[in-house]
Amino acid sequence: MNLRKKVTVVGAGNVGANCALRIADKELADVVLVDVVEGVPQGKALDLLQSGPVQGYDVMVTGANDYGPTANSDIAIITAGFPRKPGMSRDDLLLANYEVVKTATEQVVKQSPNCIIIVVTNPLDAMCQTAYMVSQFPKNRVIGMAGVLDTARFRTFIAQELKVSAENVTAVVMGGHGDTMVPLVRLSGVSGIPLTELMDQATLDRLVERTRNGGAEIVKYLKTGSAYYAPSAATVEMAESILKDKKKVLPCSAYLEGEYGIKGLFVGVPVKLGERGIEQIYQIKLAAEEQALLQKSAKAVQELVDVIRKKNV
Ligand code: APR
Repeated sequence: MNLRKKVTVVGAGNVGANCALRIADKELADVVLVDVVEGVPQGKALDLLQSGPVQGYDVMVTGANDYGPTANSDIAIITAGFPRKPGMSRDDLLLANYEVVKTATEQVVKQSPNCIIIVVTNPLDAMCQTAYMVSQFPKNRVIGMAGVLDTARFRTFIAQELKVSAENVTAVVMGGHGDTMVPLVRLSGVSGIPLTELMDQATLDRLVERTRNGGAEIVKYLKTGSAYYAPSAATVEMAESILKDKKKVLPCSAYLEGEYGIKGLFVGVPVKLGERGIEQIYQIKLAAEEQALLQKSAKAVQELVDVIRKKNV
């Protein structure tokens, strides 16, 4: 019996390589990095492996251009994709990444039919739908990383504003990953103290707006890429909860079948993550205004999914 866990990371770029690094550092599992670029996953894997003696981890890290070495993974993290290039429309990017995620999912499923897939590639919720449709996995085994990152950004800004430990700040963000995300201020707070008691409405609005544009703010600085330290940290928090069956309650993109009035669509909601993947979807009572924002966000996800469907009829 193999007691060691195994995680495949598809895409050995910025997010993928940092996922591998964090998994190794936490000694969560052996890691297989897969990428289409020859040599890159092998080189980065070897480099990570050689950090082991210094960092004090014994996990195996390997790199490959094919999926053979990924066989029997417990989790597959899909980060492969293209960044948006000048002149590319949102739909062009959507269809390019659709092909990448489709191929990656087919290969992952062939090698690891029992794994849990965590999707990171953007546009996130539509890519979750792709992985779900292609894998034909049960809905508990396809999960999107978005809310953990969005709440991490919101928590950071709140902590900075109040000059308190970010660890004490809890936040709830729902909806699709993107500018229609729905930060739920009412349910966010510091060690149980509601945020609304700690700052005025104008400050709250400013922090919510900064959270919505959190990804774009970093792209603007980096110019040639998007964020990867916080995205990889968020992804690995999800992977850890699954691998250790911690049952953390985290905001993730999940396939909804009527929850919040949304059917047949991946949207960010609070879920419980354990060894079976999504073990519970929490349906919390929303105010009418919050529900309206969530519907609007779901509509934006639906539009992207429709573009994919239209191409595949
Ligand atoms: N199979 C495997 N790897 C692929 C494929 C494919 N079909 N197509 C592209 N890749 C690889 C690229 O070679 C590259 O190494 O995916 C990697 C993507 O890495 P980066 O360009 O560094 O992008 P990154 O910052 O890691 O972001 C990846 O995560 O947060 C999201 O929006 C982000 O969709 C993007 C994804």
